[in-house]
Amino acid sequence: MTAIVSARDVYKFFGKGANELAVLRGVTFDVHEGEFVCIMGPSGSGKSTLLHMLSGLDAPSAGQVELFGQDLGALSHHERTLLRRKSIGYVFQFFNLLPNLSVEENVGLPLAIQGKRPAAERPRIRELLERFGLGDRGGSFPHQLSGGQMQHTSIARALAGGQPLLLCDEPTGNLSQKAGREVMETLRRVCGEDGRSVLLVTHNPRDAGYADRVLFLVDGELQPEPVLNGPDIPVETIHETLAALHI
Ligand SMILES: Nc1ncnc2c1ncn2[C@@H]1O[C@H](COP(=O)(O)OP(=O)(O)O)[C@@H](O)[C@H]1O
Ligand SMILES: [Mg+2]
Repeated sequence: MTAIVSARDVYKFFGKGANELAVLRGVTFDVHEGEFVCIMGPSGSGKSTLLHMLSGLDAPSAGQVELFGQDLGALSHHERTLLRRKSIGYVFQFFNLLPNLSVEENVGLPLAIQGKRPAAERPRIRELLERFGLGDRGGSFPHQLSGGQMQHTSIARALAGGQPLLLCDEPTGNLSQKAGREVMETLRRVCGEDGRSVLLVTHNPRDAGYADRVLFLVDGELQPEPVLNGPDIPVETIHETLAALHI
């Protein structure tokens, strides 16, 4: 199996001296092509920080991250940015849509950043919107959408440039139960297409149940075990595991 992202003994410290905080402490794991991996941990356990390291948005204090076989630490800032744009789509808890752009313009933004002409990309954007039930919403603005529609817009945006890795940071944290389930079903559906992989970080046991593999992050340390294998992991199993880990 090909590892598309590898973390090797990743540490992250914030602050200095007496204020130093060790947020990630020796995190090692891989995500393989086509795989849906979930990292579960309570609030403050270092999940978002870990995604920042994996996407090269921030650098580890020690250790190594490889994205598609390239050591991020060995690249220039510009090379890292290009690699991130080409390979990663990011989905956030609060959607991060641009309020003054329409749904269609939001989804087309990564393509515009890649230097593609909006007119030429329109059919592809339309197709993505159709696919996520937003076919009649292309001209709407984010504030006119439901939470579920906003998150589907942001998933469409994350996929628009054909990136093979989706990083999802608490993607249902701001949604109703129903919309949250729909978003998770969408993520499950797009994982594996063209070898695409999904890495989800969450504290939501229901969401973790959709993954092929669930790992647990406690106080910045990724637990060697248990590792739960899915998909369709019963939510009770996840609750029991969290209780056993005292989280
Ligand atoms: N830029 C930063 N500067 C200082 N502390 C930070 C910074 N980013 C995160 N932290 C701290 O790191 C810890 C982990 O944060 P985070 O990765 O956001 O956790 P999670 O996403 O699991 O809730 C928290 O204690 C947070 O306050
Ligand atoms: Mg977070």
